[in-house]
Amino acid sequence: MTFDILQKRVHQRVDALLQAQINTLDEHAPRLKSAMQYALLMGGKRMRPFLVYAVGEALGGEQSDLDAPALALECIHAYSLVHDDLPAMDDDDLRRGHPTCHIQFDEANAILAGDALQTLAFDIIVNYPLSDFANVQRIELVRILSQASGYDGMCGGQGIDLESTNKLISQAQLELLHSKKTGALITAAVTMASVLCPSVSDESKMLLQQYASTIGLAFQVQDDILDVVGDSKTLGKPQGSDQEQNKSTYPALLGLEGAQAYLAQLHQEALQALTALPYNTQVLKSFTDFVIHRNH
Ligand code: IPE
Ligand code: IPE
Ligand code: MG
Ligand code: MG
Ligand code: MG
Repeated sequence: MTFDILQKRVHQRVDALLQAQINTLDEHAPRLKSAMQYALLMGGKRMRPFLVYAVGEALGGEQSDLDAPALALECIHAYSLVHDDLPAMDDDDLRRGHPTCHIQFDEANAILAGDALQTLAFDIIVNYPLSDFANVQRIELVRILSQASGYDGMCGGQGIDLESTNKLISQAQLELLHSKKTGALITAAVTMASVLCPSVSDESKMLLQQYASTIGLAFQVQDDILDVVGDSKTLGKPQGSDQEQNKSTYPALLGLEGAQAYLAQLHQEALQALTALPYNTQVLKSFTDFVIHRNH
């Protein structure tokens, strides 16, 4: 099956399951419910769920056990985007080709939609049906997801991002920023999938960790590059937002060519980690190429 078809299948599965989650919410706050649905279901590439399924299936996990981490990660990711776009943060008005949540609804409902999507993620991890084998890993899944989402992960990375705006920071600080704000959730996709798979060796765990942190960093480096070279229509979000706000990014620090060269180096490092794994990593290789070469 080609990567495009696989991607489409994951997209359809994830969208149907996310819609089912929204459908379970009753109607006591209809505007908030609509804002949550809008943030979750209006577009998006579903790359984090794709990575959960790709790692889980390569390692011999059950697809039905992979749904919970895939959906939970997408809920955290969607919430992070809603809050990232708020006037107090990046103040952007376009996301996934549509008005941002606070423009379509209002700021208060966008804040609450983010909050409620965050707790929905943990509700899914705690309550979703899992096989007996996977069920014993629930607490471990909560541990991984909370660490990747909070101060040690995405939120902490967003905090460094705020403190690094209008400043020249070192490459080491920029790497820390990127690896937390974007890398942490991508790493969590790999780690959550691998704890749901039987008998993964310590050596494989180390290689998976190496792959995850490299592809997580590469994901944000390409996001930074696209802010420079992309166009708003294809991106579905405003091109030039980082430059306008004087954000610390790889192109700002290394220049566009420097950032592209660094991305090519990360690409090779990610592929090397995959090649060393004793599994069929063909789908993960295609995913890696997609992350590096994507245009949105
Ligand atoms: C955008 O993530 C924000 C970053 C963390 C770089 P994606 O590029 O995965 O956004 P969607 O989900 O496809 O909209
Ligand atoms: C955001 O980084 C990462 C998140 C945690 C949401 P960006 O601010 O670069 O993401 P985009 O470019 O707005 O999608
Ligand atoms: Mg931002
Ligand atoms: Mg942003
Ligand atoms: Mg960006």
